[in-house]
Amino acid sequence: MSQNQSRRIVVTSALPYANGDIHIGHLVEYLQTDFWVRFQKMRGHACVYVCADDTHGTPVMIRARDEGITPEELIARSHAQHVRDFTDFEIGFSHYGSTNCGENRALCNRIFAAMEAGGHISKRNVPQFYCEHDGMFLPDRFVKGGCPACGAAGQYGDSCDACGATYAAGELKAPACAVCGRPPATRDSEHLFFELDHFRDYLRQWIPAHTAKDVANKLLEWFGEALRGWDISRDAPYFGFEIPGHPGKFFYVWVDAPIGYMASLEKWCQQQGERFDDWWNNPEAELYHFIGKDIVRFHCLFWPAMLHCGGFKGPDQVFVHGFLTVNGEKMSKSKGTFISARTFLDHVEAQYLRFYYACKLNGTTDDIDLNFDDFIQRVNSDLVGKITNLASRGA
Ligand code: MSP
Ligand code: ZN
Repeated sequence: MSQNQSRRIVVTSALPYANGDIHIGHLVEYLQTDFWVRFQKMRGHACVYVCADDTHGTPVMIRARDEGITPEELIARSHAQHVRDFTDFEIGFSHYGSTNCGENRALCNRIFAAMEAGGHISKRNVPQFYCEHDGMFLPDRFVKGGCPACGAAGQYGDSCDACGATYAAGELKAPACAVCGRPPATRDSEHLFFELDHFRDYLRQWIPAHTAKDVANKLLEWFGEALRGWDISRDAPYFGFEIPGHPGKFFYVWVDAPIGYMASLEKWCQQQGERFDDWWNNPEAELYHFIGKDIVRFHCLFWPAMLHCGGFKGPDQVFVHGFLTVNGEKMSKSKGTFISARTFLDHVEAQYLRFYYACKLNGTTDDIDLNFDDFIQRVNSDLVGKITNLASRGA
């Protein structure tokens, strides 16, 4: 592609969960992407930036139940709040959608049909915790108990916050339902698995060509043995899309979430009178995902396999950033450093955070630190002192 030819670029940021507020950690990603998109536009390229709320899953269902509203009401409220936060931080989405839309359902069904037709879906029984009181299977994050490694109490069913061990929920000591506190029963349930190992050779080539070296090396460590099948179904009750031909089974939220990138692009196309295939499946069009390092597995293993299986083009590159720390530590509610986008805006101008992150961002997966002293210093001396001074002298 020649230097001065205008490129066609689709860019995404990861879809924030609908059951929480946007916070300054999220903003690392949305601002990084926004800067990149603005840069491409300034170079004269056609660049579409899509995102959406990630609406499905157990947490939204439980929270809506607790508040006595429907999941649809809950996600509508979050959508409005998220859009307001993003607008106030001047993040220029071309379209900001929702995974709970008809376009997304249709795309999920289409990709799942391709998985089934290709013989890539298997059924296996999995024993699962089930709460008789709440009438539901309990996902790992909805079971609490003692860590099997260090014994710390009150740990989730997937990993221990105290010692960092990861384990299966069944290994927890004295497990309890995180919703009602009662001890859960165990029930067998038939789940659908996407046989990732069928895409082993494709992925082994795809990964190093489309991710940074350190990201690729980490992922390729998994290839020493067969890739385990990915459990893509969840049992009712579940807020999500029911799987066609499998009554009572729903797509696991991580299936319909990335497909939400496509659905959001499709909505944008409808609004603009554009054709989806000109933007996604066009070999001349480019596709880039910006994500945090915690969700690499979903974007660089499952997602390219899903797209390949469904006959869609995969991303040209997945850009992975590190996590935000505040004053050198993980954001924490008790230390008051877990700051929502709204709280920040109530006290400080959005431009200052945009400027600070722009100074600190780099192309690696290293964490970035928001140090309050440094922040004040940079805003006062670099932004207000140097840049504003330059502008006023210029004027
Ligand atoms: N819903 C999923 C993404 C689905 S994408 C098909 C999710 N949501 S999230 O709200 O937890 O995170 C959204 C994005 O923000 C992710 O890329 C995540 O890595 C990023 N961040 C969340 N907290 C962050 C920090 N503290 N620091 C930097 N990025 C952070 O994951
Ligand atoms: Zn319960």
